[in-house]
Amino acid sequence: MSFAARLETELEQFKQDGVYKRLNYLEAPQAARTRMEGRGEVVILSSNNYLGLCNEPEVVAAGKRALDRYGAGTGSVRFICGTFAVHRELEQALARFVGCESSLTYVSCWNANEGLAPTLLGEQDIVISDQLNHASIIDSIRLAKAITKCQTAVYRHSDMADLEDKLRAARDARLKLVLTDGVFSMEGDIAKLPDIVALARKYDAIVAMDDSHGTGVLGRTGRGTAEHYGMLGDADIITSTLGKALGGAAGGFTAGAAPLADYLTQRSRPQLFSNALPPTVAASALAAVRCVERQPERVTRLHDNARYFREQLLALGFKPLPGETPIVPVILGETAKAIEMSALLLDEGIFVTGFGYPVVPQGYARIRCQLSAAHTREDLDLALSAFKRVGARLGLI
Ligand SMILES: Cc1ncc(COP(=O)(O)O)c(C=O)c1O
Repeated sequence: MSFAARLETELEQFKQDGVYKRLNYLEAPQAARTRMEGRGEVVILSSNNYLGLCNEPEVVAAGKRALDRYGAGTGSVRFICGTFAVHRELEQALARFVGCESSLTYVSCWNANEGLAPTLLGEQDIVISDQLNHASIIDSIRLAKAITKCQTAVYRHSDMADLEDKLRAARDARLKLVLTDGVFSMEGDIAKLPDIVALARKYDAIVAMDDSHGTGVLGRTGRGTAEHYGMLGDADIITSTLGKALGGAAGGFTAGAAPLADYLTQRSRPQLFSNALPPTVAASALAAVRCVERQPERVTRLHDNARYFREQLLALGFKPLPGETPIVPVILGETAKAIEMSALLLDEGIFVTGFGYPVVPQGYARIRCQLSAAHTREDLDLALSAFKRVGARLGLI
């Protein structure tokens, strides 16, 4: 069988198994409602556009001005000739925002994570990771292990006794790096940062937290998981994305102590071998940070929307995973069921994606709702009435 024929066969099997992902094409910006090709207006309930900044005029205008001022491309990696003044301004703003001394941007948080563990660890070191960490952290650790031969350990999800066992067993390692998501992206729960930091201090370890779903989202002013717990500055390293609450375009960053950004600039392979964040995107992200700083009421609205939607889903008889973040997952079991529910909701004008294996473990497929500050009560009520009809039809409520 030819290579192409083999791919076709496997794709056909995905379709038969009901796990094939169809892409939906949008013809208008990310917002509470958008226009989908062939469907017309739909309410988006699956977006990382937590603060409604994707289409905020100020954020868009900043990108346009940067396009005129700096042109379309960086033409290079950072250390050769790809560093623009806007990078420095953005990195200073990001560091301040998340409560750190320095930050360095990447073209994605995937890259930021990938550039972290293999750069910081060596053969005498160990990385200890939560079982449900994001795929980019897992791959970062795999890469670190392959490149540096560091040791690795995984603790059961948010199980502090297990983390302590792993830290105790790692007593002799030189650097002990605990890696956790701030908000777990598929479950919507929040890392136990106070306990993790306390254990790290006890065992002389450092903590790196990927706060991609926390930045702009958690805490009274959106400064993330650390602000949520009143411990800004206590995580040693924060990685996060610019592709969610902060304008939603693309990009990521790593923040930490003063020398961290410089060290990563020298050594992190995605910095050394991949083009810099486009200046247009950097300028939009900078405008997004300023928006959040000036308008904390966006964060309040997001929290109110998340609370309302969760309460109303429960009142309808659904059993979303408990939590206090704007990620509201409804577990359905098999992947095909999640894809079917997503298709039925789309027929009702509600765009919410079903997640199945391999994004989540087998048997835990789900519809993952994500709320935004951009949603009005009318948007949410429209979505809830569709959930009611589809849930009844599928025998879920
Ligand atoms: C926890 C977490 N880390 C990293 C990423 C990747 O972010 P980016 O899109 O900036 O690569 C995501 C996005 O899904 C995420 O949820």
